[in-house]
Amino acid sequence: AAATRYEAEAAPATCTGSIESNHTGYSGNGFCNGDNTIDAATQFTVTASAAGTATIAIRYANGATGNRPADVLVNGALAHANTAFDPTGAWTAWATKTFAVPVHAGTNTIRLDPATAAGLANIDYLDL
Ligand code: GCU
Ligand code: CA
Repeated sequence: AAATRYEAEAAPATCTGSIESNHTGYSGNGFCNGDNTIDAATQFTVTASAAGTATIAIRYANGATGNRPADVLVNGALAHANTAFDPTGAWTAWATKTFAVPVHAGTNTIRLDPATAAGLANIDYLDL
C-alpha cells in the first residue's frame, strides 16, 4: 500500500519548538523547528495496518555544520539510539532517513528525541 504522510506541523504530531515555513522545500504547510535543547522532542502518532516491522521515512533538513543525532522511540520504547541526522548543506536542503521499527496494529507513537543539547534537525514529515 502507498505510504501515509504525517506532517510534523499538523496534529496529531507535536513539535517542541515552533512550526515554521521560512526555509523552502518542505512538504505541506511547514516544518517543526525544534528548540535547541536535549528535551525538545517531535512526536508523530501513526496508524499501522498490521503488527510487525514497518519502515518509516523521516524527512529533515540540517543546515548546521554538525550532526543532530536523535533517539527513535516507538510507543515509548527505544528503537534506535543516537541515530545521525547529518548536515544536509542548507536549511533548504531536505533529506530522508528510513528506519525499521516495531509497530502494533492500529495507533502507535513515534518520537524523535534529541540525543544532544543541539536539539533535532528541522523535521518535515514521517511516512509510514
Ligand atoms: C536556524 C534555522 C532554524 C534551525 C536552527 C537550528 O535558526 O533558521 O530553522 O532550526 O538554526 O540550529 O536548530
Ligand atoms: Ca532548531
